[in-house]
Amino acid sequence: MKITRRTFLENAGATIAASTTLQQAESPVRLGVIGTGGRGSDLLRALTTIDEAVVAGVCDDYPPHLENGAKYAGPQARQFSDYRRMLDELKPQAVVIAVPLYLHYQVARDCLDAGCDIFLEKTMCFTIEEARQLVTRVDSSGRVFQVGLQRRANPIYRQARAMVKAGMIGQIVSFKAQWHRNNSWRRPVPVPRNSPDWPRLERRLNWRLYRQYSAGLMAELGSHQMDVANWFFDAHPNRVLATGGIEFFRDGREVWDNVSCLYEYKLKDPRGNPYTVRASYSSLCNNAYEGAAELILGTRGSLYLTSSKGLLFQEKGTDVVSWESGTNAADSNAAVVTAGKTLKLSNDPWAHRGTPFEIDIAEGNDTRDELVSFIDHVRRRDPKTICDARTGLLDCATILIANHSIESGSWVQFPA
Ligand SMILES: NC(=O)c1ccc[n+]([C@@H]2O[C@H](COP(=O)([O-])OP(=O)(O)OC[C@H]3O[C@@H](n4cnc5c(N)ncnc54)[C@H](O)[C@@H]3O)[C@@H](O)[C@H]2O)c1
Repeated sequence: MKITRRTFLENAGATIAASTTLQQAESPVRLGVIGTGGRGSDLLRALTTIDEAVVAGVCDDYPPHLENGAKYAGPQARQFSDYRRMLDELKPQAVVIAVPLYLHYQVARDCLDAGCDIFLEKTMCFTIEEARQLVTRVDSSGRVFQVGLQRRANPIYRQARAMVKAGMIGQIVSFKAQWHRNNSWRRPVPVPRNSPDWPRLERRLNWRLYRQYSAGLMAELGSHQMDVANWFFDAHPNRVLATGGIEFFRDGREVWDNVSCLYEYKLKDPRGNPYTVRASYSSLCNNAYEGAAELILGTRGSLYLTSSKGLLFQEKGTDVVSWESGTNAADSNAAVVTAGKTLKLSNDPWAHRGTPFEIDIAEGNDTRDELVSFIDHVRRRDPKTICDARTGLLDCATILIANHSIESGSWVQFPA
């Protein structure tokens, strides 16, 4: 089995730049960026490298972040502290939204009403109901809309998905993903602890830690990785059982510092018969050993994926043994397999698994790739973005039902 870069670039449409040609429209897309904190700054830095886009305005209601954003955007960008004023006065063609999760729906709705195309950071919305409403609004608006799940733009993931669709790992049997870090998630507050401004600033900067604004680890990290399962399986989970808690960072936060989830997906085998795939997900804030990765296990092989590396490990499956031939060699192969060679290998985490095939991609930047794709769709007026509102809704529901399960302590079905 040979994986050539060319074959899979062709099959996967693997690089956004290769698969979508930026049209030479008269003028670049005029953008406003709303929310110029951590992620907004990443997006701004990438946008300023794309010739077909110009950042005409930046908006943030926290002055130090607005100042930073303006620095990244360049002198042509006007500065606003109120996004509604920016929409009125600047009339941007498109907006990039990177505000805290609880504001996603409100800001996206107002930008749609102002006639803008939208790039909205993940997770699409704070509640499933908001996400449903946003889908309806996007559908009736005729605007181009993309959610910022950048793995969908990453050539490694695009090639890996094409490999799964081509049957290269056989029938999917399991999915495992984790995002493990050793980091409190807490941001420093730039005023003394006894300052009257401290409580307000602390909640603003550490919005991720409070339930009023945040859906915790599943929304901030799990949304990227469970979207890989949804995308690779072309399905959403059927149900989930999850658990989580605040066990280590007893610092006043309200979101769990560790979560573990078991999802069930109903898929079809190659004969069209339904079967269940179990997908496990975990996120930790105090051990980074396994980092962030997804593992897709199939009857013929396993794909290990990260944003910068993709590896295919082949299985020593029984289908490589010639049972029918009756030759001694085949019999002895068969004996080895039935004696549990594969099992023995896979039971030993240190066993040699053979040299994996590596998905061979030059180093890229999937944040830039997703924006290139968005700008391209805006210019071509193509609503079929690489992560549309419906995909955003499925992702949002996938991670929020895990939170609901943690709260209720029971299985939660995927909503109708
Ligand atoms: N795709 C990714 O890899 C990725 C990575 C990090 C964050 N994110 C997402 O990006 C979003 C922002 O996260 P962040 O880490 O940048 O948070 P952040 O706190 O660093 O930035 C959010 C910014 O929004 C600003 N803001 C809040 N209310 C506003 C308002 N009404 N008008 C204008 N600005 C307002 C804040 O002042 C802040 O500067 C979140 O949804 C997060 O999940 C995505």
